[in-house]
Amino acid sequence: MVIPGEPSSFAGQRVVVTGAAGGIGAAIAAGFVARGASVVINDLDHDRLQRTAEEIGAVAFAGDAAGAEGVAALVAAADAELGGIDCWVANAGVGGPVGLQLDEPGWDLTWQVNTMAHVRAAQLLVPRWSQTGGGRFVVTASAAGLLTLLGGAAYSVTKHAAVAFAEWLQLTYAHRGISVHAICPQGVDTALFRSSEGREVMEAEGVLQPVQVADALFAAIESGQFFVLPHPQVADYYVTRATHPDKWLAGMNKLQQRSEA
Ligand SMILES: NC(=O)c1ccc[n+]([C@@H]2O[C@H](COP(=O)([O-])OP(=O)(O)OC[C@H]3O[C@@H](n4cnc5c(N)ncnc54)[C@H](O)[C@@H]3O)[C@@H](O)[C@H]2O)c1
Repeated sequence: MVIPGEPSSFAGQRVVVTGAAGGIGAAIAAGFVARGASVVINDLDHDRLQRTAEEIGAVAFAGDAAGAEGVAALVAAADAELGGIDCWVANAGVGGPVGLQLDEPGWDLTWQVNTMAHVRAAQLLVPRWSQTGGGRFVVTASAAGLLTLLGGAAYSVTKHAAVAFAEWLQLTYAHRGISVHAICPQGVDTALFRSSEGREVMEAEGVLQPVQVADALFAAIESGQFFVLPHPQVADYYVTRATHPDKWLAGMNKLQQRSEA
């Protein structure tokens, strides 16, 4: 239950966070545990997931959270462990600055993890939430889903799709008690970020810690905001992109040229 103006309590809430062996997912899961929720965390990385679960007081369920079978298995495991699911955080993500050279399997994997994972989880959860009074669906998208990631074609496309799907869910089901949030950060100090090439542009924008992204999510939940923008300048860039698209594209191309120099 979230009461406007009061710190949120999630006591009794049953939460699942995917891709939560570390980074943003682990910080979000820890935030829910600290606020009284019962949390199942998931990741492909079994050992790291187990360690994180012990550290933060969550239950680990390792496996794929993107394909239809993996999502169904995770929903079933969380139902069995928690007795139901009130909040799903679709956080697992892949990809980075790869352009036209990314092959078909690479595009497919990025699409499955960054977009279809969310669709599959919503297909299982939203119909039952609509019947039982509501639920919360959180998508860790990216600023790349509102703007674009220099060098990252598949990442930008699939994160735009993730934002679009989250928007569609919110506008279709808000009146049935379903709350949706799209988290859209720029650089965050995680394994995924540290392994990315061309981080300089994002480093210049300010790199946040995962806990700051989690705090921004809880603030957005308290104020009932759909977009979670831990880097506030993303809102300004989003406005510029919409109102002066050619100026915005020319500016981004300059940054691209600088990154090639
Ligand atoms: N770090 C950043 O700068 C940044 C910025 C914007 C958005 N994001 C998004 O934040 C989310 C979390 O990433 P992170 O930065 O914390 O990096 P991370 O590498 O710490 O976390 C991503 C996790 O997802 C897991 N994963 C990948 N495919 C999976 C699958 N099919 N099933 C289950 N788990 C899977 C990985 O094993 C990994 O532990 C991602 O969606 C990422 O795109 C990150």
